[in-house]
Amino acid sequence: MLATYNFLVGFHNLLRWVVVLGGVWALVTMIRGLATQAAWTQQAGLSARVFTYGLHLQLLVGLIMYGLLPAIGRASTGPIDARVSLVAHAGYMILAVIAAQVGTSTARRAADDRAKYMRSTVAYAIAMALIFWMIPWSRSLIPWG
Ligand code: HEM
Repeated sequence: MLATYNFLVGFHNLLRWVVVLGGVWALVTMIRGLATQAAWTQQAGLSARVFTYGLHLQLLVGLIMYGLLPAIGRASTGPIDARVSLVAHAGYMILAVIAAQVGTSTARRAADDRAKYMRSTVAYAIAMALIFWMIPWSRSLIPWG
């Protein structure tokens, strides 16, 4: 069970880079689209999907790890680094996933391209602020490292 858990921690570490880089890509794309009053592009939609799907996968992996904690004899509440508690990490990251998903869904239904970029910009900025805040940066930056 510990081996499974440790594998998932490494995968969760790796997926963090998909989320961080996908998020930067999506947010820069949305801000640029808003600033230049551009038409919605396929690339904008792709960046939104990479970010949102990456987040959902990360959420799933995180929840499985959380569920495995009792089996490996760890508390579900302790700190994961000097700054971030596990409860805060899980709670605020869930809010980040919701923010990003609300942005992606409402942008899809927006009447015009300006509104698409606007909704995505606001939602992804909130999501990225929460993500950067809640990543335990003092832990290993590379998976299984
Ligand atoms: C959605 C965005 C999230 C990101 C970007 C993220 C990122 C990270 C990172 C970088 C670590 C450190 C990994 C390592 O030490 O190698 C970590 C640890 C952890 N995360 Fe997340 N996480 C997210 C969401 C969640 C959620 C929603 C949960 C649980 C419900 C969760 C549960 C955990 C657990 C249990 C650990 C600690 C592993 C340990 O101390 O053994 N994560 N997370």
